[in-house]
Amino acid sequence: MQVINYISELKSIVGEYRKQNKTIGFVPTMGALHEGHLSLVSFSKENTDITVVSIFVNPTQFNDKNDLKNYPRTLDADLEKLASKAVDIVFAPSESEMYPEPDTRIFDFGNLDKVMEGAHRPGHFNGVAQVVSKLFSAVEPDKAFFGDKDFQQVAVIKQMVRQLNLPVAIVPCPIVREADGLAMSSRNTLLSPVQRQHAVLISKTLFESREMAKTMDVKELKAWVVANINKDPELEVEYFEIVDDTDLISAKSWSEPNKKVGCITVKVGNVRLIDNIRYNS
Ligand code: PAF
Repeated sequence: MQVINYISELKSIVGEYRKQNKTIGFVPTMGALHEGHLSLVSFSKENTDITVVSIFVNPTQFNDKNDLKNYPRTLDADLEKLASKAVDIVFAPSESEMYPEPDTRIFDFGNLDKVMEGAHRPGHFNGVAQVVSKLFSAVEPDKAFFGDKDFQQVAVIKQMVRQLNLPVAIVPCPIVREADGLAMSSRNTLLSPVQRQHAVLISKTLFESREMAKTMDVKELKAWVVANINKDPELEVEYFEIVDDTDLISAKSWSEPNKKVGCITVKVGNVRLIDNIRYNS
């Protein structure tokens, strides 16, 4: 496994593989790797010849300085995990390598970056688009693998790829969950043992809501999910939306044509956890 810190070096190594007609798979991460990330690596290894993983905590996507400061950083452990999965290349650039000068680009993805995470974390998706477009230009992957836990992020990145005509296929991969159902997240490590026990109510409620959806209308179900989670004093729902799975427009009824996804963000103390569940699929 080669660990590379510079874009020029990365480009020349990947370029050599490309000359040998190898396909390039890419898994962008911010480190603090868990089984969810490693499942993306497995999808990449199954579907492409060479797998590149990036580790970079991108400052431009954090709208909260404390969140950036507290984001877990575990580079040595991450490299061990990636080596055990026989990843070919790890790209771990510095901030000055990625942003030699401030990135002033402003993206507009219509409704996709305005709702849910976009509304609650102003500038977040602009920062994601800035860094992912830079990473795509550094790696030039054939396929890039993203976790469906960040459902809205996947929608935004697909739209960015369409807007910029980038020659990369975006491959969404299933959410990986802990044994009790909690969606895996780097932020789970920030939970106290007590908070961790309470956090399971998020996925439990989402799973139950699939059953409730058989008898409740959209409005009733939204209210039920929020109330069921908020009754736990350790948890506070920031938003729960049921949206169309392509344009993320808020659903009014189950009979609308597109499939529906319930997207939630819950604050557990200072830690924001997100999750989602598909309904009529
Ligand atoms: O999902 C993440 O970890 C980040 O948003 C990403 C895609 C690596 C960009 O920094």
